[in-house]
Formats: sequence, C-alpha cells, structure tokens
Amino acid sequence: MASRRPARGSGDLPIDRDPSRIEAMFGDIAARYDLMNRLMTVGLDGRWRRLAATEAHLAPGDEALDACCGTGDLSFGLADRCPSCVVTGLDFTPEMLVQAREKAVARESHGLPVPREFVAGDVLELPFEDDRFAAVTVGWGVRNVPDVPRAFREMARVTRPGGRVVCLESTQAPDGLGKRFHDVWMGRVVPVLGRLVTGDPSAYAYLPASVAAFPRADELAAIMAGAGLTNVRFRRLGFGAVALHVGEASK
Ligand SMILES: C[S@@+](CC[C@H](N)C(=O)[O-])C[C@H]1O[C@@H](n2cnc3c(N)ncnc32)[C@H](O)[C@@H]1O
Repeated sequence: MASRRPARGSGDLPIDRDPSRIEAMFGDIAARYDLMNRLMTVGLDGRWRRLAATEAHLAPGDEALDACCGTGDLSFGLADRCPSCVVTGLDFTPEMLVQAREKAVARESHGLPVPREFVAGDVLELPFEDDRFAAVTVGWGVRNVPDVPRAFREMARVTRPGGRVVCLESTQAPDGLGKRFHDVWMGRVVPVLGRLVTGDPSAYAYLPASVAAFPRADELAAIMAGAGLTNVRFRRLGFGAVALHVGEASK
C-alpha cells in the first residue's frame, strides 16, 4: 500500500482529518505512542481494551479484525481473550504496524497468543469479503477518519450476521466534575506531556480538538445504527470521557 497518500475529501470537517496528514502524524509518534497512552490514561487504557475485547464475544476458532490497530494493543487483547481465534490487525500507518509486529515477535517469544497478521489497509475500504469476521473492533480509530458513517458501513459489511462491531473511543464527557477534570487534563496537561514525550507539539493538541469535533456518544450510536448495525448500545468509562459502543451485524 502506498504511504503518505494524496489528500482525500476531508470536506467541511472543523478539524483536519485529511488521511495523508493523519498517517504522517501517527508515523511521527509511533515509537512513543504506547508510552503516551499509559501516561495520559494513568494505565487505564489496558483495562478499557480488555473490556472491548470481551465485548467482541469471540468463540474458539472465530476470526476477528481489529481495524485501525495502531501498535496492536487491542489486537493483542483479542488474542488474549481467545487464543484459538484468528485475529488480524489492520492500519494504514506503516510505522504503527512496525511497532505492532515487533511487539508480536516479543510476545510470541514469551509464549503469549498473537494475532495471525498485521496488515496495511484503510478502514474506509476494507480489503476483505462480506461477512468474513465474527467481530470487528476499533479502538480510538474512527475519530481520525473523514467519513465516520462509511467506516462503520465497512466494518458492518465484513462482519457476519449476528457478529459484533465494537468501538472504543474518546468522547465528550457529560457536564459535571468529571468533565471539568477531563477538560483540564486533556486540554492542558496532555498536550504538554505529549510534546515532552514525543517531541511533537501538534499530535496531542489534535487529540482534544478531535474529540470536541467528534459526534457525541449518543450521536455515534445513531451513526452505527445508520450503518446497519442493530441493538447498538454504549457505556461510558474513564470519567465518562471514553465510550464503549457495541452493535450487531444483521443482513
Ligand atoms: C489513536 S491510534 C489507535 C491505535 C490502536 N487502535 C489503539 O487502541 O491504541 C489511531 C490509529 O488509526 C489509524 N488510522 C487512522 N485512519 C485510518 C484509516 N482510514 N484506515 C486505517 N487506519 C487508520 C492510525 O494510523 C493510527 O494507528
């Protein structure tokens, strides 16, 4: 797959979700991405990914896709949850896939379950046939795409009837103390932390801006339903600032 692709339709989105820019941004922070996740969630991201992997409801031998897999942590969560399952991680940033594959080699050397492969690809044009997977997960991925409904239509398309699409994503917390704390943490602390850890002043300023510009959790549930998923529900985590959505494919 070609890297740093030409710009494609970010339309009238209030922030720049141009795919070539997104890919370059994640390429620049790939080596420090995991460390930043641990720091800015004070280690809670692992628990949230485990919850997402559980919601995939995998049975032995099932095939699962982790879209926008990045450095692979949710893919590893799926493999841990179901060691006999065939897990594929997909992402369009080569540097993130390098990290995922290196971690898979290290895990394998310790006898831990690993995904079958990490492949290059675009969640907006998934390179898989219809109804292939028992579950598709996406963690902190759809906030970065220029066409969120299309991403869910694609994930629903490759999920077999009755299978699940699971989305873990940052979201706007409901008004209250949690939101005020979170706004300060994400708006002021995380951008400084991000600059110190990654040396990139923009990536972790983009994060709170992209959350503010992203559909609210109830709106995201409606988008998932509009993409053909049924029984869509969500729960909030982390002061309400993270949402775990689940929907079922029905065709
Ligand atoms: C915030 S990271 C999340 C990584 C991982 N899922 C996790 O839980 O940490 C977002 C990832 O989405 C990927 N991404 C963004 N847009 C994409 C697209 N259209 N197709 C595939 N991957 C995409 C980026 O390359 C990046 O690795």
